Amino acid sequence: MSPIPKTAPFAEEEIDLLNRVVGPASANQRAWLAGFLAGLDAASAGAIVTQPAASARPAEPLTIVYASESGNSEKLAGDVAKSARKSGLKPTTIDMTDLDLAALAAAKRLVVIAATWGEGEPPARSIRAYNELMGEGAPRLDGVEFGVLALGDTAYAEFCAVGKNIDERLAALGGKRIADRVDCDLDFAEPAARWIGDAIKALTPPNASGRVIEVDFGLKPAASPSTDIFEAEIIEHVDLNSSRSDKETIHLALSFEGAAPAYEPGDSLDLYPENDPAYVDELLKAAGLAGDDKLRSELIKSRDVTTLSIKTVESYAGSTGHQYVNALLADGQAKGWITGRQLIDLIATFPIALDAEKLRALTRPLAPRAYSIASSRREVGDEAHLLVSAVRYESHGRARKGVASNYVAERLKRGGRARVKLKPNKHFALPSGDRDIIMVGPGTGVAPFRAFVQERRATQAKGRSWLFFGDRTFTHDFLYQLDWQEALKDGALTRMDVAFSRDTPNKVYVQHKLWDQRSELIKWLDGGAHFYVCGDAKAMAKDVRAALVRAYADVKALSAEAAEEAVVTLELEKRYLQDTY
Ligand SMILES: Cc1cc2nc3c(=O)[nH]c(=O)nc-3n(C[C@H](O)[C@H](O)[C@H](O)COP(=O)(O)OP(=O)(O)OC[C@H]3O[C@@H](n4cnc5c(N)ncnc54)[C@H](O)[C@@H]3O)c2cc1C
Ligand SMILES: Cc1cc2nc3c(=O)[nH]c(=O)nc-3n(C[C@H](O)[C@H](O)[C@H](O)COP(=O)(O)O)c2cc1C
Repeated sequence: MSPIPKTAPFAEEEIDLLNRVVGPASANQRAWLAGFLAGLDAASAGAIVTQPAASARPAEPLTIVYASESGNSEKLAGDVAKSARKSGLKPTTIDMTDLDLAALAAAKRLVVIAATWGEGEPPARSIRAYNELMGEGAPRLDGVEFGVLALGDTAYAEFCAVGKNIDERLAALGGKRIADRVDCDLDFAEPAARWIGDAIKALTPPNASGRVIEVDFGLKPAASPSTDIFEAEIIEHVDLNSSRSDKETIHLALSFEGAAPAYEPGDSLDLYPENDPAYVDELLKAAGLAGDDKLRSELIKSRDVTTLSIKTVESYAGSTGHQYVNALLADGQAKGWITGRQLIDLIATFPIALDAEKLRALTRPLAPRAYSIASSRREVGDEAHLLVSAVRYESHGRARKGVASNYVAERLKRGGRARVKLKPNKHFALPSGDRDIIMVGPGTGVAPFRAFVQERRATQAKGRSWLFFGDRTFTHDFLYQLDWQEALKDGALTRMDVAFSRDTPNKVYVQHKLWDQRSELIKWLDGGAHFYVCGDAKAMAKDVRAALVRAYADVKALSAEAAEEAVVTLELEKRYLQDTY
């Protein structure tokens, strides 16, 4: 029989023990045990039991809704469900993508875990339901007991905006806030676990404990791939732009001793970077702490020394009492001042004597950065390939460098080692091999599509595949050009359309190519093709969606509303999939 899943509400060693007893038991023995436990619990709760209530369920429901893009809120929703089951509640978990608002109105108790993306926007998949919730047609939620956990990043001006908005909206619709909202930064594990414990306690009615927990003996344990940190050797480090390009995009091949993490096409790797030692030296000098080698090493390896948020400014004002920083906050100027600036600007502009502890307290743990995996294990074995574009820009008179991308571009070398963790993304997976796929991936957005094409070649998929790629120039920025040529030759790629924005007087982008090919594109979609978009979330993803809406309107002679509806249908059918950042 199937073992008791790891998700069961028991400690790991208890699950092992139970498996040892229940595993070899006969069907008869299992049925007796289930009935016996049900009867025992019901009797001790004072109920009159005439026969074992094998199908008894926890009576008190809990609805858990998550709005997630990269999986953190989704994982926490799973933790809430686990904790709820332990408390005798019966949880139902809903991805906001699939949320029907009537389900909220029917809920008795509600937990919402919501991440914020873009510049204060909901995760792409949750936009429809989020807008409905915020819109005039949202149902009343009188008496629904709720709590909201917000995920975000203090580096963004609109910190946890979506969680905050949902929390306010639920209350405005008549919901009863039972657990106060907590806004989590990137290091959310601890505050989120604490919030879950408190919220479940607050949401559990006194009569819920001691109820029978339903055990589905037929349930297969979810085979979850390892999300441990792996150390990998860098076996290829190649700049795919020509030396005359103003960009630097590194193809990085990682080799795993033993086995690579069990990734699938569409997954990403979280890469653990180190800070630029030159930047850290400058920071230490500005803080009057040059020469503190222990602090230097800690800041390089494990602290976020670049992000400047309102929280950092408040903390600086609090710990130093700096009058000008206090004034900046008091005048309401701080939000504007931090835009485009980093921690170094704060300390260099408003210098004051700092000790190591005060400087450390201004920083948060250094977070990993996600990179789409650009390879298929079926083609590359125990390797994983990444495509990393070096982020470099200037602001407020200072040259800036993105932490992780420049760690990759400037300091990781062939033969060196990198630390990575698998970040699965089941919402950006390939369909069955007989389905057509359309992939839109300009710039580094093309990375997962190299994995898709490799996978389709290795599995000899029958479905057609069509890639839209774009970058600045054909000559200097055609990422993975040889790979695409080969794939077009061997049939792993059926079609490719390219847009090089700086090769023509009028800038041409992938959305223009989609428009040019609109009749064929709609034919593919009518035939059941899946449509994928990866890369820039700020402009590209929105422009691509708008182009597709216009394409439907034009090709099928639809009104703007009907064309929008056609794209919404693709989204609901999970045939319009995005992984944008
Ligand atoms: C699921 C996912 C997949 C991803 N896949 C890839 C991928 O395949 N390849 C890839 O290269 N990246 C990818 N990214 C992006 C990647 O994770 C990093 O965000 C990116 O490399 C920058 O990280 P960094 O540490 O170098 O920069 P950071 O140190 O994090 O600095 C970036 C910050 O600098 C600021 N900034 C950047 N440019 C400017 C500017 N011009 N003007 C003003 N401020 C600016 C912004 O505040 C920005 O948030 C992905 C992201 C996600 C979420
Ligand atoms: C491209 C991008 C944009 C983001 N924008 C915001 C933002 O505007 N405000 C915020 O608080 N957090 C922002 N975040 C941080 C996410 O909310 C945070 O990483 C969260 O843990 C993601 O949760 P999820 O995995 O459930 O999607 C952003 C993250 C990325 C990668």
